[in-house]
Amino acid sequence: MDAFTFYNPTKLIFGQEKTKELADELVVYDRKVLLVYGGGSIKKNGLYDTVMEQLEYAGCSVVELAGVEPNPRLTTVQKGIDLCREHNIGFILAVGGGSVIDATKAIAVGARFDGDIWDVIMKKVLPDDALPFGTILTLAATGSEMNSGSVITNWETHHKVGWGSIFSFPNFSILDPINTVSVPQDQTVYGIVDMMTHVLEAYFHPAENTPLQDRICESILQTVMECGPELINDLEDINLRETILYSGTMALNGITQMGARGDWGTHNLEHAVSAVSDIPHAGGLAILFPHWMRHSVDVNPERGAQLAQRVFGVSREGKEDREVALEGIEKLSSFWTSIGAPSKLSDYSIDETQIDQIADIATENGVFGNYHKIGRPEVMEILTQAL
Ligand code: NZQ
Ligand code: ZN
Repeated sequence: MDAFTFYNPTKLIFGQEKTKELADELVVYDRKVLLVYGGGSIKKNGLYDTVMEQLEYAGCSVVELAGVEPNPRLTTVQKGIDLCREHNIGFILAVGGGSVIDATKAIAVGARFDGDIWDVIMKKVLPDDALPFGTILTLAATGSEMNSGSVITNWETHHKVGWGSIFSFPNFSILDPINTVSVPQDQTVYGIVDMMTHVLEAYFHPAENTPLQDRICESILQTVMECGPELINDLEDINLRETILYSGTMALNGITQMGARGDWGTHNLEHAVSAVSDIPHAGGLAILFPHWMRHSVDVNPERGAQLAQRVFGVSREGKEDREVALEGIEKLSSFWTSIGAPSKLSDYSIDETQIDQIADIATENGVFGNYHKIGRPEVMEILTQAL
């Protein structure tokens, strides 16, 4: 395995009714709070009222930034930064899914950065400070609640860019499965696909001797594939919500990638798709990932065959690794289709007239992918197959 340093300072507060411990967490922070949330789901399910009670109990004065959009935009981040400066905000609380949390990370860093936050996101400059922030996660998917990553869209330039820094880890995250019960079926499906692809991105790495890393990845995938379909059939089952919530966090909090850096090429490609057509992140991943896997099958057929056998139950007897790996990809594809995930770009009305632009954006910085380096010809092939 590769040598590694592991750092993750986020305090995780997990379990039913843990939202009611928010005030206890807030007492160590500045009481001028910016509350960041999305398009209103927290008002419909009652979480907004619970959070406001806790903020009041902790003696906080609250400024609100509502309306963070899925695939959060730079313009919204800028609004948040302006609010922080105008109201001398000392702490930010994000209540929502990955989009709300990602926007909050950029606001927290931007509020303490004397320059254009887009330069930080584009990795032209390194930030050296941030406002402290906490999160209350409402959707199991991205892992943003316990990592430093943030993905922001600049709709004017058609860039959807992932960035992160040691200052963009949440100080704390409250994960209360009760807050995820209202997630509708489609978003629940997307969450399942997203967390599975995070594990798969990690699984396809060039390092050797990673038996424990492999088993950790495989067990997260097995758990999600066992509970996911049950949850889709019973969205209110709190035990299943709890397991999926924990799985989403474990899928991208750094644990799967200790000693082995995954590929992440399909995420880069999906971000380019979303930068051209505003589609749900995991909808794009469900379409692209099987094509990327087929395209990469010869990089290390043994790795694909191991996954196929251990996670998808494919028999290896009398078969070449390549054949086993390809059978595994079919099983993954049918699993995602069976829970209602999309399988073609045309499901989102993306056609051949758009794929040149997507390929341009994806390859703007040259070839990409840590396991399988791909460039424009491969990207065009994957996109064409995905139409
Ligand atoms: O905006 P509201 O009204 O809250 O509704 C949201 C939104 O419409 C809704 N929702 C969230 N919690 C709900 C709920 N509806 C009912 N009940 C609840 N409890 O779900 C919709 C989608 O929310 P969003 O936050 O956009 O979803 P997700 O968590 O999947 O985040 C997607 C974003 O995260 C980025 C993606 O690219 C995308 O921009 N990613 C972030 C990563 C990271 N920071 O580590 C890694 C990921 O790979 C990903 O790229
Ligand atoms: Zn993702």
